[in-house]
Amino acid sequence: MANNLKLNNAKEAKNDEFYTQLVDIENELRHYKPLFKGKTVLCNCDDPRVSNFFKYFTLNFEHLGLKRLIATCYKHQTIDLFSQNDSEQAVYIIYDGDKNGNHIPEPEEMEVLPLRGDGDFRSEECIELLKQADIVCTNPPFSLFREYVAQLVRYEKKFLIIGSINAISYKEVFPLLKEGKMWLGCSIHSGDREFEIPEWYTTTSPSLRYGENGRRYVRVPGIRWFTNLDFKERHDELILYKHYSPEEYITYDNYDAINVDKISDIPCDYDGIMGVPINLLDVFNPDQFEIIGYGKGELAKSIGVRSNHRGRADLAITVNGKHTCPYGRILIRKK
Ligand SMILES: C[S@@+](CC[C@H](N)C(=O)[O-])C[C@H]1O[C@@H](n2cnc3c(N)ncnc32)[C@H](O)[C@@H]1O
Repeated sequence: MANNLKLNNAKEAKNDEFYTQLVDIENELRHYKPLFKGKTVLCNCDDPRVSNFFKYFTLNFEHLGLKRLIATCYKHQTIDLFSQNDSEQAVYIIYDGDKNGNHIPEPEEMEVLPLRGDGDFRSEECIELLKQADIVCTNPPFSLFREYVAQLVRYEKKFLIIGSINAISYKEVFPLLKEGKMWLGCSIHSGDREFEIPEWYTTTSPSLRYGENGRRYVRVPGIRWFTNLDFKERHDELILYKHYSPEEYITYDNYDAINVDKISDIPCDYDGIMGVPINLLDVFNPDQFEIIGYGKGELAKSIGVRSNHRGRADLAITVNGKHTCPYGRILIRKK
């Protein structure tokens, strides 16, 4: 059991070390420019030596009109997680913008200060830095996503962070989507994204690519931005053209809602609850729909989905006498 635990920890540590590419940060951040003016930004899972979040915010400090940038660097107590980490000390960095007028962020313009602990985002000293921030922007460790989001919500922070689409079904995350306290970002709606991996990371991924200076990249599927910052495209209405008929739209066996297999098939004239594929969240307009719940497991049970033919609270339909559970559904209703 101890060995299994070690293996799991090692696997999680591995999955936590994916470095975001600058182009992905640029593509998302351009939708929020006015919201950053006069704000203090915190990147709290970011070694400034390798983080493109740090790079993006220093390079765009004046363009965004930031007040301050703070980055904390996590230093693991036992193993060196940073490929380029040449210091035993966890540090944080403050950047207040260009001082000498050459519009280039330089080391002399940055204040590097020691941390007492290892820079864990949950530590008291990192929480003190969190309190100073208006907006938190990073790609946090995948294995700690639940705790990471919970902390942002507890301290009522604005945030723009990267995570896996799988997180939407977490019982700690889905209620935030449902209550309109968090939504998916603007620039990534499908496919995968390439992340840089550290030197020590062994991989058999067919997507492995070597870049300049032997830097290595792998593609990770199901990546999304999660945010509570508003953006214009979020209010674009989804154009619906299909009409409801009881023949075409089957009602679930264990919940009073119809099943819709494709986003483009959402009927424009149905006022009841509809179970739709989770990728609706990529184009979800809060003015058009409300989220009622998630169609699987404990979350489904909590909104009254009854046990199905397998004895589980997963949405189920019966077609020609055959019982099936449509994959990944969220329940919505037109507003
Ligand atoms: C997915 S990586 C992303 C790194 C960087 N934000 C980026 O996007 O390139 C997550 C980072 O969080 C760091 N980390 C892991 N556990 C942490 C913790 N408890 N507190 C702060 N950072 C942590 C990892 O070492 C890793 O560098």
